[in-house]
Amino acid sequence: MVRIPEETITQVREASDIVNVVSQYVQLKKSGQNHFAHCPFHEDRTPSFSVNEKKQIYHCFSCGRGGNVFSFLQEMEGISFPEAVVKTAEIVEIPLDDSIKEQSAQNRPNENSRFSKLLQINEQTSDFYHHILMNTKVGEAAYQYLIDRGMEKETLETFKLGFSPPQRNALKLYLENQETIEQSLLPDSGLFSDRDDGQLLDRFSGRIMFPIRDRKGQTVAFSGRIFEDPAIERPQSFHTAKYVNSPETDLFNKRKVLFNYDKARPAIRRAGEVYLFEGFMDVISSWQAGIKNGIASMGTSLTTEQIHQLDRVTDKVVIAYDGDQAGLDASKRAMEYFLDQTHFNIEVVSFPEKLDPDDYIKTRGKESFNDFLVHGRDTYMSFLMKYHRNGLNLKNESERVSYIEKILKQMTVVSSPVERELYFNQLAQEFELSQDILKEQFQQYMLETQKNRTKELKKKQEERKSDTYAFQIKRQNRPKTNSIEQAEKMLLNRLFYHDDVWYTLQNLSFEFTFPHEPYQILYLLYESYFRDKGENNVEAFLDFIKDPGHKKTAAEILWMDLGEVYVNTEIEDYIDVIANRSPLETTLQLKRQELKEAERTGDKQKQKYLTIEIINLNRQLKAAKEV
Ligand code: CTP
Ligand code: MN
Repeated sequence: MVRIPEETITQVREASDIVNVVSQYVQLKKSGQNHFAHCPFHEDRTPSFSVNEKKQIYHCFSCGRGGNVFSFLQEMEGISFPEAVVKTAEIVEIPLDDSIKEQSAQNRPNENSRFSKLLQINEQTSDFYHHILMNTKVGEAAYQYLIDRGMEKETLETFKLGFSPPQRNALKLYLENQETIEQSLLPDSGLFSDRDDGQLLDRFSGRIMFPIRDRKGQTVAFSGRIFEDPAIERPQSFHTAKYVNSPETDLFNKRKVLFNYDKARPAIRRAGEVYLFEGFMDVISSWQAGIKNGIASMGTSLTTEQIHQLDRVTDKVVIAYDGDQAGLDASKRAMEYFLDQTHFNIEVVSFPEKLDPDDYIKTRGKESFNDFLVHGRDTYMSFLMKYHRNGLNLKNESERVSYIEKILKQMTVVSSPVERELYFNQLAQEFELSQDILKEQFQQYMLETQKNRTKELKKKQEERKSDTYAFQIKRQNRPKTNSIEQAEKMLLNRLFYHDDVWYTLQNLSFEFTFPHEPYQILYLLYESYFRDKGENNVEAFLDFIKDPGHKKTAAEILWMDLGEVYVNTEIEDYIDVIANRSPLETTLQLKRQELKEAERTGDKQKQKYLTIEIINLNRQLKAAKEV
């Protein structure tokens, strides 16, 4: 392991701000003392994840994860402690020795895992395809094609576009000669298809290659766009798809990946909104035109997972699909899906003349594109109005009525009264109707919707009930927090924040221990930390704890807010509860269990005498509490 000097770690930690670092990954909302968000570490329905600026720690009330800025990065990025320190140093712009950086990178804990070996195969493959495109005769025509389409060389490098040679064993030969590659994993890489005789064939051939990166920027898959080079003769197949994607592998789950999410994330946060495009080419051309907050799903409709991922960084999505009918239909579907799943603010850009964003830039230029993205936006309703009107003959009475009804129905989801007023106005003017009639009709739809909503709400509540039940079952496997445990935690909290508690515990007339193991361990860890350092620094203590489970418990304890000041009797109370009541309560619990057992077996005699014992114990306990 690398040893980063203690002072450096402290310096980096003190210069960093956890709120700032966490904000790069999740969208925090301030409420009172804390910042809240949906937990990035598990599927979180309510925002259970919170960050405390003052204490510089985070804690998830739902999954229990917690820690400081370093453990956040470790968990988020799957990196080691030294790497987390290096990363934080970069964020706060503290220069570190190169030797530290290099060593920490070499110390990846999972260097030899299957996962990282598969990643390595992907990285080498992407280097290979990129090299073919940029520097070889085989890739020349594809390169020229991309340049002719308006791609700049720098863009090809940024996105590391590539070309897969037409013969179906080029990649295989290349990788077979790479010493660092784990050959046995090639069949699982998704880069090959099996032939009947067991030979591997390159999955991609004669295609322009788009590396697909996950949210950490690691290449986990590829998408290949067909490219017919007129100079190369190839048997024409009628079934070649325009795009071929890697299949699902251990690295690649296409439900989860959003194209360009890793690179776009900072810009999404800055702009407060994300552009959702249909194609990779659209994302890349827009990037070149200065739009850095663009992403695309993987050639399919959006998934819950992808929406959830966006939810963490922004509230606003601008759908910028193709301008053809398919694109409009897809926009409508995506919009409805977003609104159904979340509270997103949605706008739509519909490109004129069936253009897709890439074509638009090509034909009308970057400036016009940037302008159109801002000024060519429709709100949910104005988009729907355009959408439903498309192809209708509004001179026809029945078509007109059905159109107006449709719009009024849709308006029930518009929450802003101002916006609604605007639409009443528009409809009234356009169809020469009185606003009163429109509003009356609208009221009726509103009532219906509300009835349906109540029904749905009830259903959801039922579902949640059974959810809570499942949650309770899970909880039963965890130790219950009883009052002793609570006292143990509170005492540790005071101990961690106040030196003098340490001396109080040291000077007791008996040897003090925590009855529950996790707390005793933390106590012992704190003891060795405190003896070593001679001072109390909570942040440094968290880093001192290596075991993630213990770290979690410590963070949970540090999270508790007991107020700044404490009186000595508070500490004495905790000690009393822990040292004196604990044995009593344990015995009481045991007796209660025995009683249950006796009731089950029908042993009347035993029941009687156990009941008396329990009454006695309860009395003693009560007395102990009153002291
Ligand atoms: N797509 C796919 N399979 C296809 C066609 C499309 O997976 N047979 C996906 C790809 O992810 C593609 C997106 O759908 O990026 C949009 O398709 P399309 O608009 O046809 O592609 P463009 O990005 O416009 O490609 P180009 O401009 O090079 O034709
Ligand atoms: Mn296109």
